[in-house]
Amino acid sequence: MRKYLVWMVLAMLTVAVAACHEEKVYKIGVSQCSQDDWRMKMNDEINREVMFHENVVVEIRSADDSNQKQIDDIRYFADNSFDIIIAAPLVADAITPVIKEVYESGIPVIVFDRNINGDYFTAFQGADNKAIGKAAAHYARHLVNDKAKIIEIRGLKGSTPATSRHDGFVEGLEESGSAGIVAEAYGDWNYDDASRVADSLFRLHPDVDLVYAHNDRMAIGVSEVAARHGIRPRIIGIDAAPEIGIRAVVDSVIDATFLYPTEGHRLIRTALAILDGKPYDRVTSLPVASPVDATNADIVLLQNESLKEETGKIKLLKSQVDDYWSKHSAQTSLFYAAGVILLLLFGWIFLLLRSFWLNRAHQRQLVEQNRLLEDQRDMQKSLNEQLRVATQSKLVFFTNVSHDLRTPLTLIAEPVEQMVNAPNLTPQQHSLMQIANKNVKILHRLINQILDFRKYENGKLDVNLAEVDFSKMMTEWSESFRSMARKHDIRFIVDMPEEEMVLAIDAEKIERVFFNLVSNAFKHTPDNGTIRVSSSIRDGELTFSVADNGHGISKEDLDRIFERFYQVDKIHPKGSGIGLSLAKAFIELHGGTISAESELGKGSVFTVRIPVRHVEASAVTPCPLINENDVSAELGAVDSVEIVHDSEKPLLLIIDDNRDILRLVGELMKDDYNIITASDGKEGVRLATKYVPDIIICDVMMPVLDGLECCRIIKEEISTSHIPVLMLTACSMDEQRVEGYDSGADAYVAKPFSSAVLKARCKSLIANRKRIKEIWHSGQEAPVAPKPSLPAPGVTGASNDIDNEFYNRFIEFFTTEMGNPDLSVDTIASEMGLGRSQFYRKIKALTNYSPVELFRSLRLKQARALLTGTDKSISEIAYEVGFSTPAYFTKCYRDAFGETPSELRDKLSR
Ligand code: FRU
Repeated sequence: MRKYLVWMVLAMLTVAVAACHEEKVYKIGVSQCSQDDWRMKMNDEINREVMFHENVVVEIRSADDSNQKQIDDIRYFADNSFDIIIAAPLVADAITPVIKEVYESGIPVIVFDRNINGDYFTAFQGADNKAIGKAAAHYARHLVNDKAKIIEIRGLKGSTPATSRHDGFVEGLEESGSAGIVAEAYGDWNYDDASRVADSLFRLHPDVDLVYAHNDRMAIGVSEVAARHGIRPRIIGIDAAPEIGIRAVVDSVIDATFLYPTEGHRLIRTALAILDGKPYDRVTSLPVASPVDATNADIVLLQNESLKEETGKIKLLKSQVDDYWSKHSAQTSLFYAAGVILLLLFGWIFLLLRSFWLNRAHQRQLVEQNRLLEDQRDMQKSLNEQLRVATQSKLVFFTNVSHDLRTPLTLIAEPVEQMVNAPNLTPQQHSLMQIANKNVKILHRLINQILDFRKYENGKLDVNLAEVDFSKMMTEWSESFRSMARKHDIRFIVDMPEEEMVLAIDAEKIERVFFNLVSNAFKHTPDNGTIRVSSSIRDGELTFSVADNGHGISKEDLDRIFERFYQVDKIHPKGSGIGLSLAKAFIELHGGTISAESELGKGSVFTVRIPVRHVEASAVTPCPLINENDVSAELGAVDSVEIVHDSEKPLLLIIDDNRDILRLVGELMKDDYNIITASDGKEGVRLATKYVPDIIICDVMMPVLDGLECCRIIKEEISTSHIPVLMLTACSMDEQRVEGYDSGADAYVAKPFSSAVLKARCKSLIANRKRIKEIWHSGQEAPVAPKPSLPAPGVTGASNDIDNEFYNRFIEFFTTEMGNPDLSVDTIASEMGLGRSQFYRKIKALTNYSPVELFRSLRLKQARALLTGTDKSISEIAYEVGFSTPAYFTKCYRDAFGETPSELRDKLSR
């Protein structure tokens, strides 16, 4: 979506930029020194020219014959970023500095009409005023004779045309040999001043023949003053501006006027050439034309009229064109705006359609997902139902089986109970009976729990409330755990208020809850831990809690421990998973609650709350149903197997986390083996490496390190790799057997096992081992050389490979070192990476020789090979194979081969 928005904005920007594109607009400032007909004509020409240039704006300011105002006007243009300044300076001296200043600041300046002092301008445009003055002199000569009296009315003092026009006139008069000027005065370029000075001069020179005025305005003033004086001298003016000068000629107010060209359009063209960097003339001298007098004034006026008309038309055309352009540009803007709107509209419609399609697709997807979910839900429902039915029938089955088990169990329990205490039992029989008795009790309790739980679930479990003194009861219940606490050095604290706590409960059920909670605490608290049982009655509620500082329960398990059959440790369950849910059921039957708090590694607190109720009947203290025997049946293992060490018997290591199994297997095997036991895999590996037993019986599921891993480590360790391992486990599935064999196990016996099978398998493993040893042993009779891999039926290759590799390494080392007098069992053991006793047991297990015997046998074999195959002397050979003296060598050799080395040599030499 964002991608599309970006494209749309980009497209709009492009359209907008295209619509708004504009040429650079030039700002031109024109500073006129005064405002009069001649300058109006010029301004018209300027404005007309500007019309033809779209990118030009012009601002014309008049100084109204004030030097200061003109200075201000020029500064104004400079300060307002005008691109070029065009100026006709009023008086050269006054205006030159400001023009110089702006010119030097980098703004182009065009000076026109009147000049400045110096050439501080970019361009100059003006007529040759001196030539005009000269032409006027020549014309005057044509009007009057050479004796005529002439008055000159000059322009403004200090303005350059006034000077040039005078100089030219004087020069012209001289050229034509005319009489000189009788009087002259400055008329300051305007009608009033000229009239005023003419009046004075006419008084002095009433007989004047000709007046030469520097412009037409002053000439007209002179003419009117002359008329008032009653004289009519010939009058010449300059400018020939149509409405003033030419009209005055036509009206015979003056006699002639000389064209002073304006050429305003030319100024604008020069300015644009400068601004556009195009070529231009730095000084443009405008042409001087012949005089306009009575002979041609009419025509000139007429021409001017038609020019004016044309100009008017052009103006009209221009305004129409402007109109058209403004309409056109409005339409163009409208067009672009419409384009943008259309684009937006299309974009919007596209996005709308897209989101509509996406929505539809999404909706279809949702519908499909919903359908799938519904299918799944239906399936789940039916699965749940199936599960419920299956669970129900399983429970019914369990209940029935439990019921069925009860009678045979009772029939087993009673004889077992009696036999445990029978006086004529051997210690082994007594021990086995103890195990049986303990486990019968556990089974009994389990069956009762299942039946009670079913009753509870079916709403058939009754509560038999009776008034009891809870503090007394709890003290008695706790007593059963005392000896167990002592046995494991557990601080067992019973926290009870002094006073009685009388309330109505079903004592039997609460006792079972108590038993369950405290047994659990004992199961999960290590030796030297603390278990605290406390109770109190407050606000009509009995609270009792069991706290321990044992292993604790994870958050995930804590949420589920009261669920039916939930087991915290699924691999090594310490109970059936029914105890806590039954406890919860019992407490709920009392209208109470049971809760647990726990933190892994810190311990757990179970708290029971029961509302205090009373029934009519006085408090009784029923006898506790659970006694110390039940506690030890639940928690304690029977006494450990008593081991009598007999050096003739092979050493058996039993690894199992169940103490009863350790005890049972120990009892079964102790007649044929020396026994050591380990209660987890890690301990098992440690003992196997330390004692290098002859055979190992190992459980599969164990805490810390499981049996498979334990077996793998034993089989990969040089010192233990040869030891046969028998896996003993409750899992009898084929896959698990394969896993067992993969880890290097030599045999596999499933629980429940028959003692005969177990004994037989162990025996056959030991025999197997012995057979292999014999093969090795006989191998030693052959010449000393790396042994080939041994065939080992029924034994995994892994241990053989390791053992072969070990033996080859040993032979290689021993063969090269046997001549070394410092070679000892210790050196060789450490070279092989074993301790002395590990090395001893390993060599013994592999070859049936002790290391010393094996060394001697190897030395003698090497000696025999040297005696038969070389010429070396007997004593040389004796030292070479590592005997300390030749005599001792001879003795050993004779013992081994029945002849002395020299007898052999003699035999060979014959
Ligand atoms: C206009 C004007 C003209 C004259 C010119 C000389 O201001 O007086 O009449 O020819 O200036 O600069």
